[in-house]
Amino acid sequence: MSNRANFGSKLGVILASAGSAVGLGNIWRFPYEAGNHGGAAFIFIYLGCVLILGLPILIAEFLIGRHSRANTAGAYQKLAPGTHWRWVGRMGVLAGFLILSYYSVVAGWTLEYIFEAATNAFTGKSADDFITSFQQFSASPWRPVVWLVAFLVSTHLIIVKGVEKGIEKSSKIMMPALFIIILILVGCSVTLPGAGAGIEFLLKPDFSKVDGNVFLGAMGQAFFSLSLGMGCLCTYASYFGKDTNLAKTAFSVGVIDTCVAVLAGFIIFPAAFSVGIQPDSGPSLIFITLPNVFQQAFGNVPVLAYVFSVMFYVLLAMAALTSTISLHEVVTAYLHEEFRFSRGKAAKMVTGGCIFLGVFCSLSLGVLKEYTVGGLTIFDLFDFVTAKLMLPLGGLFIALFTGWYLDKKIVWEEITNNGTLKVPLYRLIVFILKYIAPITVSLIFINELGLL
Ligand code: PHE
Repeated sequence: MSNRANFGSKLGVILASAGSAVGLGNIWRFPYEAGNHGGAAFIFIYLGCVLILGLPILIAEFLIGRHSRANTAGAYQKLAPGTHWRWVGRMGVLAGFLILSYYSVVAGWTLEYIFEAATNAFTGKSADDFITSFQQFSASPWRPVVWLVAFLVSTHLIIVKGVEKGIEKSSKIMMPALFIIILILVGCSVTLPGAGAGIEFLLKPDFSKVDGNVFLGAMGQAFFSLSLGMGCLCTYASYFGKDTNLAKTAFSVGVIDTCVAVLAGFIIFPAAFSVGIQPDSGPSLIFITLPNVFQQAFGNVPVLAYVFSVMFYVLLAMAALTSTISLHEVVTAYLHEEFRFSRGKAAKMVTGGCIFLGVFCSLSLGVLKEYTVGGLTIFDLFDFVTAKLMLPLGGLFIALFTGWYLDKKIVWEEITNNGTLKVPLYRLIVFILKYIAPITVSLIFINELGLL
């Protein structure tokens, strides 16, 4: 496609990709997964997954996207015409659609919490009040649905503005704001009385808690957090210029994403421990812990409690938005390029479809709670199937595709920009894609899912 959109600047490339990676996965999902799986030991294994699997697969997605300059399903069609590889791209588009549906539910919650914080609804509440009000809110049949729709519509409005004016511009505003807010909140959290126990939980690994489940959790989290395995960064890379250094960009995205996750841990655990909330309270952790923490920590300076609460949920909403944009773009670009819908129409179909599925996910925490599959509600099922199955599986195939199928010359040309860049770890990256990543992902699958 000759007149295909492009990102306008190097900074835009990094901030948009990091915007996709940094999201609820870092600030909402990472802390509760770490909390459920014993803290520091999980984080340790998570870091291993990012280094050994995450970064090389990120580079692979980048190179597939930039070389083909197409949406993720079209990319495999171009690079491997007439083969079954196209299913890897299609599975990615489906995963993106499913993730966007349930992710927007949580993203919607952040809007409710901004609203509550801004209207002073947290003042004077006790820890128990926060638990009840979260449970009542998330189980309500209409309130979370309204926010879900609001969030998807906001995402929609940015997507229809296009790559440079929508995606890139919004990331350039939101990402720097997000870094500043995170640093302020970390400073505030680690100085709370009793914060030490939370810091210890984050830094002192207890390997006795480690089992196969922890590995699957850490691997799923690494893929989810880096937006990997479903063609999200592949789609973004299709808008990269010829001079973008893929390995360096991947490294920057990995470092930013990991730092934000760890810093989010430093906001949440010290705060949770300081007010005696268990770290393993699951997906509700940040919606129950944090408002309570701000109230208790700054009880005698209400204005600070107010400012910090609003700031935290604005942070969450912005982080979520830069990620929902990237999920939306994967599916919109697919419909637009493969089925020739106009971009606006494609975006409307995605938004409408996600509202439809999202409503079920939201209701499954309330009125549809009884409907479970294998003990999981629809919401949990979406999370499990995408993060723990589809993304690692997608990652496995992306590694195999780049390591074994794709012409070595293409891999070399893309990673070194036609030989103009020195990439010191080039051989290692290719070796990992060929052997280490496929074997590791398969072993974790086989071990945990009892496939053998
Ligand atoms: N990486 C995003 C986050 O951490 C979620 C996401 C997953 C976005 C997959 C795009 C693709 O919140």
